[in-house]
Amino acid sequence: MDIIIKIANLSKIYANGYQALDNVSLDIRRGEILALLGPNGAGKTTLISAICGLVTPSSGTVTVDGFDNIKQYRQSRERIGLVPQELTLPTFDKVWNTVAFSRSLFGKKSNKALIDQLLKDLSLFDKKDNEVRMLSGGMKRRVLIAKALSHEPKILFLDEPTAGVDVNLRKDMWKIINKLREEGVTIILTTHYIEEAEEIADRVGVINDGKLLLVDDKKNLMQKLGKKQCIIELKNAIDRIPETLSDYHLELAQAGKRLVYTYSTVADGTGITALLQAMSSTGLSMKDLQTKQSSLEEIFVNLVEAEA
Ligand SMILES: Nc1ncnc2c1ncn2[C@@H]1O[C@H](COP(=O)(O)OP(=O)(O)O)[C@@H](O)[C@H]1O
Ligand SMILES: [Mg+2]
Repeated sequence: MDIIIKIANLSKIYANGYQALDNVSLDIRRGEILALLGPNGAGKTTLISAICGLVTPSSGTVTVDGFDNIKQYRQSRERIGLVPQELTLPTFDKVWNTVAFSRSLFGKKSNKALIDQLLKDLSLFDKKDNEVRMLSGGMKRRVLIAKALSHEPKILFLDEPTAGVDVNLRKDMWKIINKLREEGVTIILTTHYIEEAEEIADRVGVINDGKLLLVDDKKNLMQKLGKKQCIIELKNAIDRIPETLSDYHLELAQAGKRLVYTYSTVADGTGITALLQAMSSTGLSMKDLQTKQSSLEEIFVNLVEAEA
């Protein structure tokens, strides 16, 4: 296995004493798309910042393509493109210039064709002479992506790339990510949306409370985590779940007015049809029905309980 980033026993305690990373070890494979999945405050941005050399770890080491990310910062950093979570941009610069300038910071020869192509891929080309400060939030995010890619990095980090992003940008982003993966670029993205990890990643790492709980191929993880709930509102409240429905392991909620059925999204059938038939022959009438993906919070609770 060709490992491009090796993270060994990485911990970070911030100056105020808060431990944001707790002994994280992780091998990132060359060419993969890895999603780091975790709720707000889990430590995702801290982890990315520590890999990119922007946050000094309290202990542990990171090697990027064979280079220690602190002792050999320059070699390590030039392999990395980072699209930060926050919109941080020089305001008066023009779009084309700010992207070209990013490239020059890494000592790369100027390359007009490359910058033009990047701006085209990101639907920014007609804005190339606009001042960045005049752009909308979505356009600014596109500029950040172009800047991150301007020096042709082997590794791309995207920190919460689609939080608050419109559908068009999301689509463009997935197109670019696919193109980069075909070119062999390794992509690491953070997200708190399980659907997003599901959509794009080869592997998923689950991070919570500064700890990497597990890393697994997406398929395996979805089998473990992919649960949905079907919520059935009853016409009339009931005191207890009828014996005849015991196979479905239902929960009774909302003072007997609601039945909650949890099923796996990876099983062959959902069992909902059979449940509704069983309900009807038991004489229970349904008022309404909705399904929802189990939330990440619930998944974490399950995971943490399972690990304990
Ligand atoms: N500079 C800092 N000083 C103290 N605590 C911080 C600092 N930066 C982040 N934290 C805390 O560390 C935890 C992890 O933050 P972060 O890595 O941004 O999480 P995520 O990106 O997963 O939302 C949070 O509780 C956050 O408040
Ligand atoms: Mg973050």
